[in-house]
Amino acid sequence: MSRIIKIFDTTLRDGEQCPGASMNRSEKLTVARMLAELHVDIIEAGFPFASQDDFEGVRAIAQEIKGPIIAGLARAMEKDINATWEAIRYAERGRIHTFLATSDIHIQHKLRMTREQVLQTAVSAVRHARKYTDDVEFSPEDATRSDHDFLCQVIEAVIEAGVTTVNIPDTVGYTVPAEFGALIRMIRNRVPNIDRAVISVHCHNDLGLAVANSLAAICEGAGQVECTVNGIGERAGNASLEEIVMALRVRKNFFDAETGVDTEKITRASHLVSQITGFAVQPNKAIVGANAFAHESGIHQDGLLKEKRTYEIMTPESVGLTQHKMVLGKHSGEHAFRSKLKEMGHSPNEEQMGEMFRLFKKVTEQKKDIFEEDLEAIVTEVIYRTPEHYVLKSLLVAGETHREPVATVKLEIEGGPQTEIEHGDGLIDAIYRAITKLTKIEARLLDYSVKSVTEGTDAMGEAFVQLEREGKIFFGRGVDTDVVTASAKAYLNALNKIAYFKKRGAIHTTQKGP
Ligand code: KIV
Ligand code: ZN
Repeated sequence: MSRIIKIFDTTLRDGEQCPGASMNRSEKLTVARMLAELHVDIIEAGFPFASQDDFEGVRAIAQEIKGPIIAGLARAMEKDINATWEAIRYAERGRIHTFLATSDIHIQHKLRMTREQVLQTAVSAVRHARKYTDDVEFSPEDATRSDHDFLCQVIEAVIEAGVTTVNIPDTVGYTVPAEFGALIRMIRNRVPNIDRAVISVHCHNDLGLAVANSLAAICEGAGQVECTVNGIGERAGNASLEEIVMALRVRKNFFDAETGVDTEKITRASHLVSQITGFAVQPNKAIVGANAFAHESGIHQDGLLKEKRTYEIMTPESVGLTQHKMVLGKHSGEHAFRSKLKEMGHSPNEEQMGEMFRLFKKVTEQKKDIFEEDLEAIVTEVIYRTPEHYVLKSLLVAGETHREPVATVKLEIEGGPQTEIEHGDGLIDAIYRAITKLTKIEARLLDYSVKSVTEGTDAMGEAFVQLEREGKIFFGRGVDTDVVTASAKAYLNALNKIAYFKKRGAIHTTQKGP
C-alpha cells in the first residue's frame, strides 16, 4: 500500500502573510471551509499572537471547521503559545506549531542568542505547549542553512520534549532538490528518536524549487508537506498545494505515495483564493493556470483527437475543470438559481440569496447565457466581500474624443449619501479621483487590470486594483456587467479593506509574520 502524505495547508498563515493578501475574518472562514472540502489534513489558520484580528480569525475557524486539524503558529515564547492555545482550544483537533531559528545567521544577528540558549528555549517552548495539547509541531527556522550537528541536536531534544511533528523549513528558498533530499535522509539517519515524530517540510519558492524540493523530501521519507493554494506566500511564495497533490497523483507509480485531497475541488479552491486575495493566477501556472489544459499546436490537437493520452497526462476533470457550461439563462427563476448554487456547494443566508438573485437578474438583462463562472463571480461579490464602509450608490461617466472625461460618483458613507464630480485623464482616472475625494483616503494605484469572466462581448467584467498606502499593499476586485462599474467597485473594495484593517488596528505589513 502506498504511503499517505499529510497536506498541511498554510494559505491562511504564510499565504496571508504576503503583501496585499490580508483577509478579513469572514474571508478566512470561507477559505477554511473550502480547505475542509478539499480534505486537507491540517489547516494552519493564522498566527494568533500577531494581532487581535489574527486571534479572532483562528478562533472562529477552530470553532466552526470540522475535519482537518486546526493549527496556530507561535514563536517559542510562552505568551505566543498561550494565545495560540486560547485560539485553537475549541477545535475538534488543535495543533500548536512553534518555531525558533537554528541557523547561525539567525541566531547571531536576529535572535542574538547562543546555540545553547536556542536549544533550551526550544525545549521549554515545546514543554509549555505540551501542557495544553499532545499535538505539537516544532520548526527549526532556516533549517536548510543550519549547522547539521546543531540541527540534529535540536530535533532530538524537541522530540524528547514531546513534539509529534518536526517541520524542516527552507525559510529563504535556498536549497535544491538533491541537497534537500539528502538533508532529510541525514536527519532520519542521525536523529535517534526520529521515528517518534512525523517529518514535515516547508519550502519557499525563491529559486522556483519549492515543489521540487518538497517532492525530493517525500522521496526521502517526509510524511507531511506544508503548502498553499496557488503557491501564495512570503516573497516568491510557498510550495503550491495543487502541484504537489497532482504530482503525487499523476506519478503515483514513481512516488508510491498519495494524499487525501479531493483533487476535483482544486480549480474551485484556486479561483476562490485568487478572488478573495485579488492575486491573479498566471496563465501558464501548472494545474490551475488558464492555459494549463489548452492545446494550441495543430500537431498536439491532432494527437489529442486521436488519443487523449498522447498529450494529456491528467484530465481537466481530475482537477475539477469543466468546459464553460451554460447552466442558467434569461428565464431561469429563483428556484433554479437556488438549486444551482446549492449544487455548486454554496449555502448563503436569505439576505445574501436575495441580493445574489437581484444581481443575477441584472446580469441576465444583458447576458443571455449564464455560466458557472458567472455564478461564482456573483457569489464572491455578495458573500465574500469585505464589510463596506463605502458603498457605491451610482455612477455617471461621460467621455468624448478631445474632451476631458468627467465622472459623478455617489457613495453611501456611514448611512448618508455623498456625491462628487471630478475630471480625469481618462474615465477610470476621473472615477478614482472622485472616490478619493469622497473617502479622503489617499492611496497609490500600483496596478489596474480588467478581464472578462467568460467569453463574448456580453460577458461580465472583472476588475482588479492594487493600491499602496503607508508601505502596505491592498488588492481590490469588482465584478459587474459593465467594466467601468466593475473598476469603481474594485477601487472601493481596496479602500474598504484599508478602512476595515485600520479600524481593527491590524494593517498587516510584510514584517507581520516570522
Ligand atoms: O518559512 C518558515 O520558516 C516558516 C516557519 C514559521 C515554518 O514559515
Ligand atoms: Zn514559511
